[in-house]
Amino acid sequence: MATPSSPRIAVIIAAAGSGARLGGDIPKPWRLLNGQSLVERAWRSFCPESLHVERIVLAVDAPYLPATLEFASASLVPLHAVAGGATRTASVRHALREIPDSIDLVAVHDAARPFWPVEIWADLVDAAVRVGGSVPAVAVSDTLKRVQGSTLETVDRAGLWAVQTPQMFRADLLHGAHEAAQRDGIDATDDAELVRRVGGATEVVPSSAANFKITTAADWALAEHLSEQGNAPMAMRIGFGYDAHRLGGPGPLMLGGVRLADSGGLIGHSDGDALLHALCDALLGAAALRDIGHHFPPDDPRFKGCDSRELVRETVQLLRVAGFAPAQADATVLAEHPRLAPHVTAMCTTIAADLGLDPGRVSVKATTTEGMGFVGRGEGIAAQVVATVLPIRQGTPR
Ligand code: CTP
Ligand code: MG
Repeated sequence: MATPSSPRIAVIIAAAGSGARLGGDIPKPWRLLNGQSLVERAWRSFCPESLHVERIVLAVDAPYLPATLEFASASLVPLHAVAGGATRTASVRHALREIPDSIDLVAVHDAARPFWPVEIWADLVDAAVRVGGSVPAVAVSDTLKRVQGSTLETVDRAGLWAVQTPQMFRADLLHGAHEAAQRDGIDATDDAELVRRVGGATEVVPSSAANFKITTAADWALAEHLSEQGNAPMAMRIGFGYDAHRLGGPGPLMLGGVRLADSGGLIGHSDGDALLHALCDALLGAAALRDIGHHFPPDDPRFKGCDSRELVRETVQLLRVAGFAPAQADATVLAEHPRLAPHVTAMCTTIAADLGLDPGRVSVKATTTEGMGFVGRGEGIAAQVVATVLPIRQGTPR
């Protein structure tokens, strides 16, 4: 079957193992690495738009199905969960049942590999389209020995590669490989082996040793060290937003979600609340989620005359889906008139309520520009906001 040049891609995440070699009370996929379970880290890693993944199927231990389904509302890519099997092969087979016929390529990934290099994705897709399958791998560089007691015999390492995941296959090939494996009672530690058994070709895509599989306590310690070093997924992030609107609308004049006057409003497609728009941009910017115009286009009738507080609340939802929550915001409003000081407390309280924060986490300051520029001439009002967001720490499943 020909695979189109823009294939439809789904991902299976094998996360139903117990992690016997790692040990501990919590199954390996649910252990927290720098505050985030390996399962969550795995599915989030396939969510970036640039990967074009249209479905993620997680195979988890049955008691963890409810916890896994809780993720679904937070994922930008539709997320499905199935109960895994007694072996990795069985877990992947169960997940394959949730792959619709419309899918061209299926990538299978181990939750136990938290550092897969996203930059190999395009090569994996290319190779899978061309030959049917692709695997990330690293050429073995150590001298290899077969050990029998104290007799150490060197094994020729030419042509030996350590293979990793995500492994990508044409969907029909992977389905066929798993059907054959089940029929023949075969278990393998990866899918490329099952595909080979049915005569499928698989190409190696050079990867990095950083994509190791957490198997032992020493691997866990290394993973903790690496994740704390980069710390990117869990660090506080800062965003900045700016907006300005022209005065002279019919009103009311809305600023910071507060009605300042019944007439003489700001002109805008929505209610023109420059402060709340700058706040949305600051929050979106902190999470690298583009800007307010991208999510709430001015030509969309849904936002005509709308209450900008709704945009703030929707922005908070967008952040949540991306794994962030607002932590704090500091705003400066530039306006010649009206005097804002009497309204600042109300603005802070309103904004804090929409962000789900204590009012003490929100600050609104006001300044004139001493008669200079468009603000000084009373032509418009501008606002600048700096906001910080924090990653949402998902606990272990209940
Ligand atoms: N896996 C799975 N279903 C199983 C066994 C393993 O989905 N029945 C998954 C694991 O959760 C892991 C991946 O397959 O993400 C690779 O397996 P491995 O590293 O061997 O994990 P475990 O089998 O959990 O560990 P161990 O072999 O030490 O028990
Ligand atoms: Mg195992």
